[in-house]
Amino acid sequence: MSEIIYRDAKVEDAEKIVAFYNYVGGETSYLSFEKDEYPMTVSEQEDEIRSLEGNQTNRMLLAMDGEEIAGIATIHSTHKIKARHDGELGIVVAKKYQKQGIGSRLIQMLIDWCKGNGVTTRISLDTRADNIPAVALYMKFGFEIEGCRKNSTLLNGVYCRATFYKCLRLKEKSR
Ligand SMILES: CC(C)(COP(=O)(O)OP(=O)(O)OC[C@H]1O[C@@H](n2cnc3c(N)ncnc32)[C@H](O)[C@@H]1OP(=O)(O)O)[C@@H](O)C(=O)NCCC(=O)NCCS
Repeated sequence: MSEIIYRDAKVEDAEKIVAFYNYVGGETSYLSFEKDEYPMTVSEQEDEIRSLEGNQTNRMLLAMDGEEIAGIATIHSTHKIKARHDGELGIVVAKKYQKQGIGSRLIQMLIDWCKGNGVTTRISLDTRADNIPAVALYMKFGFEIEGCRKNSTLLNGVYCRATFYKCLRLKEKSR
């Protein structure tokens, strides 16, 4: 493994990104999609990446091992004024690259960016309660459990234990 480079996704990466997601979907049951179930085509992914240029609240970061994608982290929020401060975080690191600090680095970079983008004040995400590495990772960065969504995942005919909704508040000013 060469040195991991962290950078924004480019339109030319679209094919690799779609292939990566379709592949890692089969490596873990913790993503919302299965192998080859990633919901975007290459051209939709290209459009999505174009929409990120100059976008204040949405970003896609890649961890690259040379030409190979090792991991991807995204933050995304709606354009709606009442909700655009609430970014949803997504992250996956390919199995062979896990436990080497890549996930931590990706999250740290997104949190730092959110703190400076002038809009995002809250980061949310869902994860399965039994996803030990992800729960440990989020806790390490100060995410808090806000609640649970019972039976929200159906895995091989069995409903999974509560899915927690965690949040990291970057600024407190609630009433
Ligand atoms: C969750 C995930 C992104 C972590 O990525 P990673 O690159 O392995 O994470 P890191 O190496 O930076 O480890 C970060 C922290 O997670 C925890 N962690 C990682 N792997 C762990 C494991 N197998 N068991 C327990 N804790 C673990 C540790 O607290 C670690 O921090 P530390 O090394 O300072 O103690 C990765 O496991 C993954 O992609 N899983 C499959 C997809 C997924 O579950 N995505 C999240 C869906 S909500």
